[in-house]
Amino acid sequence: MNAFETCALSVRRGSRDVIREVSIKLRVGEVVGVLGPNGAGKSSLLGAMAGELSARSGEVLIDGRSLAGLDALAQARIRAVLPQQAALTFDLALTDVIRMGAYPFAQATPAQVDDWVRQSVLDADLAHLEAARYGELSGGEAQRIQFARVLVQARAAAAATGHAYILLDEPTSSLDPRHQLFVMQRVHQLARSENFGVLIVMHDINLAA
Ligand SMILES: Nc1ncnc2c1ncn2[C@@H]1O[C@H](COP(=O)(O)OP(=O)(O)OP(=O)(O)O)[C@@H](O)[C@H]1O
Ligand SMILES: [Mg+2]
Repeated sequence: MNAFETCALSVRRGSRDVIREVSIKLRVGEVVGVLGPNGAGKSSLLGAMAGELSARSGEVLIDGRSLAGLDALAQARIRAVLPQQAALTFDLALTDVIRMGAYPFAQATPAQVDDWVRQSVLDADLAHLEAARYGELSGGEAQRIQFARVLVQARAAAAATGHAYILLDEPTSSLDPRHQLFVMQRVHQLARSENFGVLIVMHDINLAA
């Protein structure tokens, strides 16, 4: 029953269907890669699963319930999204950006959130930057911070419901080769150890393999 799925999903953008009758199933503990050329509709698929784009036909189900029937808070409490462009240039402390992942979880204690942040900082290899401010980071560092923020959200969701789903749109596009591998390996470990179902859009076939 626990799965994040699209059933014959079609999504229209402009005057054409960029997604046509796509059915995929993402289970807890699983990492699913989505590959395809520019313009194939990968981000559109992710956008529909994130609840940002509506289906023209078909539906998106999360643990058997229609995503369209859940409000934004309920969606944020079960799935976390890393968009392809996270265009944020505010001058916040790095840990404050990462802590934002816990906003949808008002019941979480500060100690719990601290703990999730600490673990996620390690999962994104950011320990050496902990004192930094977001505005002064490189592109790849900023991308890893967004990754850590998404992990905090997923950890909080899993603490509340036992599992969580993560949608990552090209999460390694700005990363150096070592960090590409590092992040992908972490994603795999965490899917199993933390009960995450992870969908990853990517271009590198070797990395996907
Ligand atoms: N806001 C929009 N209005 C109209 N068409 C759009 C819009 N956004 C995207 N499209 C079109 O939808 C198609 C799919 O776009 P999408 O962003 O899903 O591709 P993608 O597979 O993620 O590509 P990339 O690898 O470049 O990120 C493209 O042809 C694009 O031109
Ligand atoms: Mg895209």
